[in-house]
Amino acid sequence: MVDILAASNSRRTIDTLAESNGHHDPFAASNGDHESPKQLEITENELWLLSYYRESELAGSLLMGRLARETDDDDLRVRLTEHCAEEARHAWAWTETILKVGGMPKRVSETYQSRYHAAVGNPSNLLEVLALTQIFERRVVRHFRAHLSWPD
Ligand SMILES: [Fe+2]
Repeated sequence: MVDILAASNSRRTIDTLAESNGHHDPFAASNGDHESPKQLEITENELWLLSYYRESELAGSLLMGRLARETDDDDLRVRLTEHCAEEARHAWAWTETILKVGGMPKRVSETYQSRYHAAVGNPSNLLEVLALTQIFERRVVRHFRAHLSWPD
């Protein structure tokens, strides 16, 4: 059983978690603990974009987690908790990607969600949040596919 509180407060515990999951220490390559520091292998603009993707996944995870805590619907609570965990995994995948190319995640205030809210306004109830999430999840796959075809 993983001690989540300890994991959030202890770098050593995070290292232990990574090793137990069969991952090498993603921090080692970027902070010089075990080898020389890596040079940033992408542009600053690309680092911002990866950080934006990471921040958006985190925002999605936090939103799903908040809704999971607030809902009175037992089935929805399970589904929202699963979605919360999935988005957190995505945020970690972006974090690992950033570290692997020699970067550190940037603080980014803009997210997919903030752009959606700017375009369509804040959802006024849970149903609107779920509908927006459904649309968003379909569109984001198209966005990432399109991004793959962007010129370097
Ligand atoms: Fe995601």
